[in-house]
Amino acid sequence: MTQDELKKMVAEAAIEYVVPDSIIGVGTGSTANCFIDALASIKHKINGTVASSEASAERLKSHGIEVFDLNSVNEISVYIDGADESDNHLHLVKGGGGALTREKIVAACSKKFVCIADESKLVDVLGEFPLPVEVIPMARSFVARELVKLGGRPVYRDGFVTDNGNVILDIHDMSIVDPRKLEKQLNDITGVVTNGLFAIKSADVLLLGTQDGVKKLEK
Ligand code: A5P
Repeated sequence: MTQDELKKMVAEAAIEYVVPDSIIGVGTGSTANCFIDALASIKHKINGTVASSEASAERLKSHGIEVFDLNSVNEISVYIDGADESDNHLHLVKGGGGALTREKIVAACSKKFVCIADESKLVDVLGEFPLPVEVIPMARSFVARELVKLGGRPVYRDGFVTDNGNVILDIHDMSIVDPRKLEKQLNDITGVVTNGLFAIKSADVLLLGTQDGVKKLEK
């Protein structure tokens, strides 16, 4: 199976976690797109969705799936989204597509977070994939200097603006041995909106698409 076929397989497996008659949180990226396409076939069974990006909202709407503003929703039963990396503790690196802040907000509001990924995303130690940090534009240089002090090599994602009007610094060359500690340290830098580590609140379930089928890791 190709990587795209693995993504489709794992996205379809996530349909099992969709809670009928509830609001579903929907993530961003190519794997989340496969999930949106699968969700279309059971759209009559749910009350609607909250999307973690404008791009996902557009795709959901194109399937005739209702998308609510988070502020008008009391509860999200489950959040389903991809990741750029996961370790065995279901700590994640996310934000390759730049949607990390809204992803973290929707995940925080959801009763359960089901992460869907192809097997290439499972790693022993996080950090080979550059860690995205969303930054208020005027603080970009200051935050970059602080990231260097923490041992990283920040690279400005040139020409990219998030859905929230901010910029992204991707931290290269950082082996993340204590993801919870680093997540907090990064968020404590003035000017940082949030970072792509999902460790303080990790995924609850990881569905991995492998050549031997879908494997499930749980906390
Ligand atoms: C989007 O900002 C990201 O967090 C995605 O969830 C992550 O990059 C995974 O994307 P793919 O499913 O395209 O690999």
